[in-house]
Amino acid sequence: MIIGIPKEVMPGENRVAASPETVALMVKEGWQVLVEEGAGEGSFYHDPEYVEAGAEIVRNVEELFRRAELILKVKEPLMNEKTGKHEVDMMHEGQYLITFLHPAAPANHEMVKKLAKNGVISLTLDGVPRISRAQNLDALTSMSTCAGYKGILLAANYLPKFIPQMFTAVGMVKPINCLIIGAGVGGLQAIATAKRLGAVVYAADIRPDANEQAMSLGAKIIDLKVPAEQAVGEGGYAQRLPQETLEREIDILREHLPQMDIVFCSALVPGELAPVLITEDMVASMKPGSVIVDISIDQGGNCAITPPGTVEEKHHVTLVGIKNIPGLLPTSSTWMFAQNILNFVKYIVKDGQVVLNREDEVIYKSLCTIDGEVVHKGALAAMAL
Ligand code: NAI
Repeated sequence: MIIGIPKEVMPGENRVAASPETVALMVKEGWQVLVEEGAGEGSFYHDPEYVEAGAEIVRNVEELFRRAELILKVKEPLMNEKTGKHEVDMMHEGQYLITFLHPAAPANHEMVKKLAKNGVISLTLDGVPRISRAQNLDALTSMSTCAGYKGILLAANYLPKFIPQMFTAVGMVKPINCLIIGAGVGGLQAIATAKRLGAVVYAADIRPDANEQAMSLGAKIIDLKVPAEQAVGEGGYAQRLPQETLEREIDILREHLPQMDIVFCSALVPGELAPVLITEDMVASMKPGSVIVDISIDQGGNCAITPPGTVEEKHHVTLVGIKNIPGLLPTSSTWMFAQNILNFVKYIVKDGQVVLNREDEVIYKSLCTIDGEVVHKGALAAMAL
């Protein structure tokens, strides 16, 4: 098995799909690993460390794509400005690809169709189901953990105040209030981080289980008055709320927003656009200097006026809509991502060959293209629209 690790080509993407640690583990499995020159630099993993781990450094990325049987990446294939070729065009028939493809996103439809046409067998990490046996290959969960932690640190940096309570010679500084909307993987990590910084933390989720977990981390719960049967759907995931219930939730949040200094938004129903829970007038009602970090921005955002991909001040509130938050924590996010993808490879490789059991939920939910066709359900549904 020859595995290829190209340098990521998306501007500002510092992560890479293998760490020296995972390369050593791959080599131990008897696999050959090709790493593009400088691929780990953005994550502070340098070529000599990869060589020491047993990788071959390849200067020419086209050669790497040509020789590898399995390509591991972080981001979907994109145009490589260095070679002037799209990464899909450097791939060949029968080659395997594992990465985040986000195949349902309209911007990726052409690329996914091309993968199929070129005979590439692709698996998307965002398709891995959140089930116990797939936990160690769930890169989405790892990246949400990074976004929860780093998102709160970003908020702390933009906030013009201390976070914890402080007793000083000139008086007592009150701790700030932080509200986490959506206490899933990212939200729970945000609660833990905000607590460590000394904030008074509030949490609001529609699933009773999520609120229970938030409470066990020390958050005070804001009751959104959503009946569990409306909130929880198949597999225990959240589901879309009826309009009336959603409006009631917004009204409840509207009452609390003026007391908050940081609002961290991570509410999402899988496969859907993020529910809009904060309107512009609610932003305007907040204290000057408050910060909203909206990590659900890739799905449109929980706040109606979050600027996609950037940071802006509106109504004296700083709105953070940075999209690639894990990329701001590259050493840790690469370390986690690399472990997840290695576990994925180990899951599908038997005796040096990729074996895809298409009856297995982990495989059929992540498989995107095979036998010249797009087979990913979400992508096919989105393409038919
Ligand atoms: P998750 O599915 O674990 O959590 C979402 C939570 O939102 C669930 O607990 C759900 O019950 C809750 N929820 C759904 N509808 C709600 C509503 N109306 N009101 C309150 N809560 C509601 O998702 P995860 O993994 O924590 O990801 C959260 C978001 O962060 C996603 O949009 C994901 O794409 C994004 N993300 C963003 C990154 C970035 O760099 N910006 C990086 C990683 C993840």
